[in-house]
Parts: sequence; C-alpha cells; structure tokens
Amino acid sequence: MQEIFETLKILAQEIQGLLWRANANYLESSNSNGDQQLEVDVMADKLIEKKLLELKCIKGVCSEEKQEAIYKQEGDYLIAYDPLDGSSLVDSNLSVGSIFGIYTQDFQGKNLKASAYIIYGPRVEIVFAHQEIQYLSFNGKEWIKKPTPILQNKGKINATGGTQRYWDIRHKKIIESFFASGYRLRYSGGMVPDLHQILIKGGGIFSYPATTDAPKGKLRKLFEVFPFAYIFELCGGEAIGENGIRLLELPCSNLHDTTPCYFGSKEEISKFRNNQ
Ligand code: F6P
Repeated sequence: MQEIFETLKILAQEIQGLLWRANANYLESSNSNGDQQLEVDVMADKLIEKKLLELKCIKGVCSEEKQEAIYKQEGDYLIAYDPLDGSSLVDSNLSVGSIFGIYTQDFQGKNLKASAYIIYGPRVEIVFAHQEIQYLSFNGKEWIKKPTPILQNKGKINATGGTQRYWDIRHKKIIESFFASGYRLRYSGGMVPDLHQILIKGGGIFSYPATTDAPKGKLRKLFEVFPFAYIFELCGGEAIGENGIRLLELPCSNLHDTTPCYFGSKEEISKFRNNQ
C-alpha cells in the first residue's frame, strides 16, 4: 500500500504541473458519461494509468474517463480513479482534484481497502486513507505532514448539489431547515474541494440527492462515492445513500454506477436518515 501512496505523491506533483501549463480547451471527445473532455483530463488520465500499471502490486485500473477496466495477469489491487474531478472548473481557475479507490478482488464497495484524493488548490495536498488517515501538503520541495482531519458531531457547512428545480420536496425541506438553523452554503461544484472543506473545517453536510433528471444521482460509486465514504467514516463522520444505507455496503453492478449520497457529521447525517 505504501508503494501506491508514494506513487500518488509523485502523480500529484506531475498533474499539478500539467494544470499549470494546460489551457482549458475542450476536445471533440467525451467520457463514459457523455461529458465533453478537457485536454488536461485526458493527459492526467494517461499519466495515472501508465504510472499505476507499472506497479507490480496493481492488477487492474479503471478510469472515470473510460468505459472499460484494464487488467494485468498479476497483482493484488484494483484502482478506480477519477483523474480530474470537477474539471469543468478549470476555466474559472477553481480547485479541482483526483480521487482513487483501492479495491481487492473486484470493484465493490465492500472490497475497498484504501482510498485517496489529491486537491490542486493554492497548495497541492493529498489525503490517503488506509485504516488511518495521512494528510500531507506539498511545500514545493517536500511533503509536510498535517494534522488528521476530525469531524465534530455537528458542523456549520451545507453543501448540496444538483439542479434545484429537480430536487424533490423532502430534499428542499431538509436543506431549508439547515439554513434556517444557521448553516451556511459552501458549494463550488467540485466534489474534492467541497468535501475537503467539510473535513478541514471539522464538520457539516454534503448531499447530492436523487433528482427528477438524475433519479440515481450523479456521483459515481467507484470513482467518487466509495473513496470519500471510507475517508469520512475514518474521520469520525458518516456516509449514507438512500434509505440510510451505508454507502460502502451498496453493490455495484456497473463500473459507472451512480448513487444519491450524503456525507457529513453524525448529527446532520442522522437528520437525513430520519428524513428518508
Ligand atoms: O462528478 C463531477 C462533479 O463536478 C463533482 O465534482 C461535483 O460534486 C458535481 O459534479 C457537481 O454537480 P452539480 O453541478 O450538478 O451540482
């Protein structure tokens, strides 16, 4: 696992380099979800695929940008990754990230053994989770260890996604009730910075509900939802789907399955659970 972590640290610096040099040009091509791809999306994807497949311990990879997984003959771990999550924010120069879910046997939440994300913001930072959290920040020369994020029982941030006119009435009401009790909206539209902010500020709630235009939600189980669910649980929070089920217990029937999802401090999650 340490070998994978060391590789992600190298990738973080290389992808930050790509972002510094890249323009925000869209290509003609689109990814597995039909989103138009940025040149830098494709470059980051290729870089990650190459570096991960070079590792002996990796037996396969699957990217959010591609329809199928790539397998090797040997190795122990499967990695599902989103090379540049929130890449539509690159043109407006907001933070973006890369997310990694590290699985054994097959791509299922119950087989997730570790996860990580990299955030490219004013600083490059990485959070790696394997039984415990390691949070590091790059100072231009070396990686500096930072205190482990801890989620308090309750926070102040309310981040919620999707097109509001497609929310159902229960979602509208619970979101309004959070605002009425003093929560503040913090939402950039990038899952990595939006969830990272909740972790660093010590609490709050992020929700991406089912909507009438996306009844199964938007965020992808293997590349986005399971990796963050594992991190939120390790930091003392919770991560649930519809009917209050733990996200990590949800089955995955297709590599690109999506699910409605709720990540946050225990008190906010229990409100969502009671609302379902
Ligand atoms: O999956 C891509 C993504 O950009 C996430 O990073 C983010 O949380 C979400 O989509 C934002 O979606 P919306 O604009 O519908 O709220």
